[in-house]
Amino acid sequence: MFSNLVRKLVGIPSILDCNFASGLDAGGYLLYGLGRSLRPKVCVEIGSARGLSACLIGQALKENGSGKLYAIDPHEPTGWNDGNSVDSYSLMIANLERFGISSYVEIVRDYSTNIGKTWDKEIDLLFIDGDHSYEGVKADWEVFSPHVSKFGIVVFHDTTWDFHRDSKWFRSDMGVPKFVEELRVSGYQVITIDQYCGISMVQPKLGGVPLVSEDN
Ligand SMILES: C[S@@+](CC[C@H](N)C(=O)[O-])C[C@H]1O[C@@H](n2cnc3c(N)ncnc32)[C@H](O)[C@@H]1O
Repeated sequence: MFSNLVRKLVGIPSILDCNFASGLDAGGYLLYGLGRSLRPKVCVEIGSARGLSACLIGQALKENGSGKLYAIDPHEPTGWNDGNSVDSYSLMIANLERFGISSYVEIVRDYSTNIGKTWDKEIDLLFIDGDHSYEGVKADWEVFSPHVSKFGIVVFHDTTWDFHRDSKWFRSDMGVPKFVEELRVSGYQVITIDQYCGISMVQPKLGGVPLVSEDN
């Protein structure tokens, strides 16, 4: 009851009550919160599936009254779909329509590396949740993070699997923890929430973004 009231107050009525078959689950509050607080002009997500993360970012943009999310996913079997995979393309369209956010979310039905070849927009919020192999997540970082704006944020999902090896969902080919740990060790600031399989935020500038102007 209380949490329903809070959802109404913060403007994400019932998105989290829908069954998106997503491991992100309530970890999506973070994306919604970033969408509201960053007030991003351009958001990119890699890996949409049925659209939980897209709906939460889209809802934030709708409440902001501005911004666009480019939601990249081929919507075909990739090896990183949920086990009960169905036609995620038509389900995602239906979910965006259901929450009235279609005009804030552009579905880009393709692989991230194809889209990255010609990508030229500055990105304020980048969510990486597509190909979870080490090579896949590394490629997404290398292609898209150079486009992230000065105070822009990159969010990775599935970063703490190494601490949950006894889970029935554990996969030995999950490369996200190893890659994000490499970023941390090489000097990127990484803040991690160990819930919902791990959600990590990174500013793609070594050492972080200076908070005092270098001109002063
Ligand atoms: C874990 S699901 C994404 C979950 C989604 N973010 C949510 O909130 O429910 C992973 C998705 O990544 C997609 N995918 C896999 N490889 C990809 C790639 N190279 N580019 C874009 N999407 C990819 C799959 O089709 C799948 O739908």
